[in-house]
Amino acid sequence: KWTMSEFIGKEINRIRSIVGDKNQVIGAVSGGVDSSVAAKLMHLAIGDRFHGILVDNGVMRHLECEQAKQMLVDKMGINLKIANASDRFLSNLAGITEPEKKRKIIGNTFIDVFEEEAKAIDDACAASGTPPIEFLLQGTLYPDVIESISFKGPSATIKTHHNVGGLKENMKLKLIEPLRELFKDEVRELGRLLGMDDDLVWRHPFPGPGIAIRILGEVTKEQVAIARKADYIYIEEIKKAGLYRQIAQAYAALLPVKAVGVKGDKRTYEQMICLRAVETSDFMTADWFPFPYDVLKRISSRICNEVEGVNRVVYDVSSKPPATIELE
Ligand code: XMP
Repeated sequence: KWTMSEFIGKEINRIRSIVGDKNQVIGAVSGGVDSSVAAKLMHLAIGDRFHGILVDNGVMRHLECEQAKQMLVDKMGINLKIANASDRFLSNLAGITEPEKKRKIIGNTFIDVFEEEAKAIDDACAASGTPPIEFLLQGTLYPDVIESISFKGPSATIKTHHNVGGLKENMKLKLIEPLRELFKDEVRELGRLLGMDDDLVWRHPFPGPGIAIRILGEVTKEQVAIARKADYIYIEEIKKAGLYRQIAQAYAALLPVKAVGVKGDKRTYEQMICLRAVETSDFMTADWFPFPYDVLKRISSRICNEVEGVNRVVYDVSSKPPATIELE
């Protein structure tokens, strides 16, 4: 069995032999560990002939897009186009409350934006006499490969998962999947060897539809702002308490129900934040995380005090099954 550092050299050679010395590759980059590691390997193998596209869908976490840019462009030198499509996603989501509809709208809008960006890159290549885009990078991991060959996991049939697989047919690109033999812990190790910050290497998985499926009911600019702020505080306190790595996934969701409260000497009538944190090895089953009370207390008091429009915080104590990890 190879070591991870041998893997890097081996994979770079494999990519070079597949792509050749002129062709272009595109790939969606999310700011998560898998797509970042895949993009870094491409960059090492073929430099700026790899064109990363980060679609800002308006429902990423607070500062996430900025952090991704800092890491991928400023630090690693990856050729990355950030497409700010926040308004487009939010306007497509206007009035939609049904979870599956939200997922489909986000998935379709993503594909539209990605294809437009890809076409712009293709046109620029044509104009400068460079060969067109031939390949699509995907950060598929081994468990995804197994799942799609042998069986469908429960989440795949219960929820429409959003990924860029739908692009292939349409754009007639050949797939490159440098991580298809690796497990998540191996990808993290690879990220570390490639010089990525611990923050990125250990980042919790984040669903493609982002905060939109963590805001029940309609997704508006105002609701996104509330959910983002609460989530940022939550994750910050989890990290301060040294619990981030013990937890597989954590997020703050916004419940669009109102309850009465009191702030200062004033009556309030505001929405609720629902905290979720789970322990799991495979994301197929999961248990809620037993937080120390003092940590929960700090998180709750900070969210109620700092996030306008929220006067209550509840903690989700449901396991998967029967609940799922995400709320939608
Ligand atoms: P559930 O909610 O089905 O989630 O228990 C299991 C895992 O899948 C993630 N998830 C997604 N990941 N696109 C993704 O890339 C999606 O549309 C999506 N929906 C759920 C979820 O965050 C959890 O890790």
